[in-house]
Amino acid sequence: MVKRKLKDTFADKGPGDGMSNPPIHDFKDEEKREFRKCLVAWFKENQRDLPWRKHLTNPDIDQRAYAVWVSEIMLQQTQVATVIDYYKRWMKKWPTLQDLAKASLEEVNEMWAGLGYYSRGRRLLEGAQKVVKEFSGKMPRTAETLLKHLPGVGRYTAGAIASIAYGQTTGIVDGNVIRVLCRMRVIGANSTSQPVQNKLWSLADEIVDPDQPGDFNQGMMELGATVCTPKSPNCDLCPVQNLCLAKSMVDKNKLRNGNKLGVISRTSVPDIECAADQCELCLPENEAWDEKEGVQNYPRKSGKKAARVERTSVCVLCKKSETEELQYYLVQRSQKGLLAGLWEFPSVKMEEDDENSHHTVHEILQKSCGLLVPPSTQSMVVGEVEHIFSHIHQTYIVQSLVVSESEIDSSNIHTENGRWVTREEFSSAAVSTAMKKVLKALETSSSGKKKKKPTDTDKNQKSITSFFTKK
Ligand code: ADE
Repeated sequence: MVKRKLKDTFADKGPGDGMSNPPIHDFKDEEKREFRKCLVAWFKENQRDLPWRKHLTNPDIDQRAYAVWVSEIMLQQTQVATVIDYYKRWMKKWPTLQDLAKASLEEVNEMWAGLGYYSRGRRLLEGAQKVVKEFSGKMPRTAETLLKHLPGVGRYTAGAIASIAYGQTTGIVDGNVIRVLCRMRVIGANSTSQPVQNKLWSLADEIVDPDQPGDFNQGMMELGATVCTPKSPNCDLCPVQNLCLAKSMVDKNKLRNGNKLGVISRTSVPDIECAADQCELCLPENEAWDEKEGVQNYPRKSGKKAARVERTSVCVLCKKSETEELQYYLVQRSQKGLLAGLWEFPSVKMEEDDENSHHTVHEILQKSCGLLVPPSTQSMVVGEVEHIFSHIHQTYIVQSLVVSESEIDSSNIHTENGRWVTREEFSSAAVSTAMKKVLKALETSSSGKKKKKPTDTDKNQKSITSFFTKK
């Protein structure tokens, strides 16, 4: 791997050496004009056909704002491809703010099931209720007031709604914009640091096209999502490649390496030495420009914290009716914290030192929902299911227990926060993707597709004649 310091790379500045350098992390006025013209024209020609964009021609400003609000909240931390179907179903069920304001949290959670980061849906609901109740159904009309009044709406979302739905001249910074700007202005310091964040927001505000702020901002995100991508940027297709300093560096290096005679043409290579001595925006002195990485040297990743490892014992409690239809027992999570208000199979988080063991189904049912199962009741070990939440690497140790309705008094198997659901009800219930994986694992193992070695518990498997009692 050839690594070289940025300053070394541009040490040979050629004619003009000794003259003061323009601030490389800024755009000159003529560059801003060029940027706007090229980006907006490109966006108009190349934008993807996405369902939220068709609402932008709606003459009703509140409808436009609502459509952008829903899409931007769904798009936070979630891929466009995943969002499309959720967005269409959401807008079909709640086409207006007023419709959404009448929904229940349970309905919103059901609609959101599988999309992750569930507080986003709850906040949308609370926001719609607030707009209807406190603002007579009229959305706040500026980025500043959107930010101030709407729960879950941060600086980015407020700017996106204001520029895209209202035409307010305000810049936005999301992951895509960070990448585009860091590459264009060779900003290599940690992109989450305060100086870099401040710089990115002020750049975004300075370059946004005052005549078409919505198209400009969408263009920036579209460029980041489709051309200036994290792993395979396609600089040849970039409408603003001539303004990109990271690309200039790559080109200059190519020229340097390819020119065996040592004569470097400097005609189109800007002087990109940063004038500041200890710049808070440049690649840190101790970090090198990696030639192999090209424009992907920017932005610098912000050493993410490793995910916490957790293990949880889960019991899928199934009830078989006379007609052999299965029902599953679900309990509701607390209305606060991770996966708030969602339904799940009874579960118990394991202590950190419980690495290789797991709770018995009897322990799980008693600890999680107070159901007492006589020790003689037998269970089956299904296996382990892994799920990565944003900050937790979760392993579920899944066991199942089937009880037959005729054998037990099922009215006993019920707790205040629990309910029985059919398979169909489970599919449309407010359950997380992790729990869907758990049930899938059970179904796969019981259909014999994936036979597991029997464990000690499995070996004694027999029909269940025991009963449950409430604690
Ligand atoms: N990502 C988030 N919002 C977006 C938008 N409006 N256009 C393109 N990509 C996006």
